[in-house]
Amino acid sequence: MLMNTQTPIADARATLAAHYDLAPSLAAAEALADRYARVARVIPQAEWAVHAPYIREIDRLKRERGAVILAHNYMTPEIFHGVADVSGDSLALAIEATRVPQQVIVQCGVHFMAETSKILNPEKTVLIPDARAGCSLASSITAADIAAMRAQYPGARVVSYVNTTAAVKAASDICCTSANALEVVEAMPGDTVIMTPDGFLARNVAAKSTKRIVWWEGTCMVHERFTAEELRAYRAADPDIAIIAHPECTPEVVAEADYTGSTSAMIGWVRANRPRKVVMVTECSMSDNVAAELPETEFVRPCNICPHMKRITLENILWSLHTMTEEVTVDPALIPKARAAVEAMIALGRKPG
Ligand code: 13P
Ligand code: SF4
Repeated sequence: MLMNTQTPIADARATLAAHYDLAPSLAAAEALADRYARVARVIPQAEWAVHAPYIREIDRLKRERGAVILAHNYMTPEIFHGVADVSGDSLALAIEATRVPQQVIVQCGVHFMAETSKILNPEKTVLIPDARAGCSLASSITAADIAAMRAQYPGARVVSYVNTTAAVKAASDICCTSANALEVVEAMPGDTVIMTPDGFLARNVAAKSTKRIVWWEGTCMVHERFTAEELRAYRAADPDIAIIAHPECTPEVVAEADYTGSTSAMIGWVRANRPRKVVMVTECSMSDNVAAELPETEFVRPCNICPHMKRITLENILWSLHTMTEEVTVDPALIPKARAAVEAMIALGRKPG
């Protein structure tokens, strides 16, 4: 097992132990009592004493290195509430990457998110605590596959989910996220639009779109596992339960949901509606992050974990800041086209209404 792709974990731990006092500490936990108040419902006090020394050192190194931590909504609560400067869905993180003043970005999320930050900030240092944090959607398609689809549907615009590599973004006309996929597709000229790589997101958009949508059959390994049957069983057990789903789920699952939206839109829905009981049909940690702040809502957790997101830990965030690794690089030849695709999406997303 490796701390990241470079260093065996035992060596990395020995290095960290030589530089920092990382033993569980009640004093460190007490010093971070304000942050503990945010997570007290989901992290036991004894566990906070384990996290606190890491959080203290990450705070210090962040200041020393002039770094900012951008964290996806699927990070575990000790990262999401403990060390993130900015948290959000893929769209929010892409936009924030263009706004933060710091020269060093530590991306707590998966590799395509870090690449997006680098594409938008080629002059900055973008670090990812574990470069092996991939995505089943991003690895399902290549730039050559995009070219083949263009040949099959001449003239059709290519809308690629941000869950793609820089090379695929560069081969696409525009990106989208789960927060704006329908709006992006509707803004495309022509009758036919190619959507890649998420076949379920494409089907869910096609159900509402005026366009003829053709798609690539990629899937999210986390969301494809939810079934309409399990959601019907939740509803049968408690007819008042609120069911909210991410659009990477199958159309059958989305049809059972009371609301569908991006990870941030799902959080916003729960905050606004304060349901008595809710099932968030998405990656497991998100329920923990919202449950931490909404004591009156009961969260049912069908716990599907994204193994890629879970590669990011306090320990390897500290390692990343200590060693300034792993630095995310993008082929400079790809950047102008990939950036144009991401910026075209951001420009649409910022339009009023
Ligand atoms: P969001 O853009 O909704 O945060 O989704 C990203 C993702 O990877 C969900 O699985
Ligand atoms: Fe990719 Fe699915 Fe993990 Fe999101 S949850 S990063 S789409 S594998």
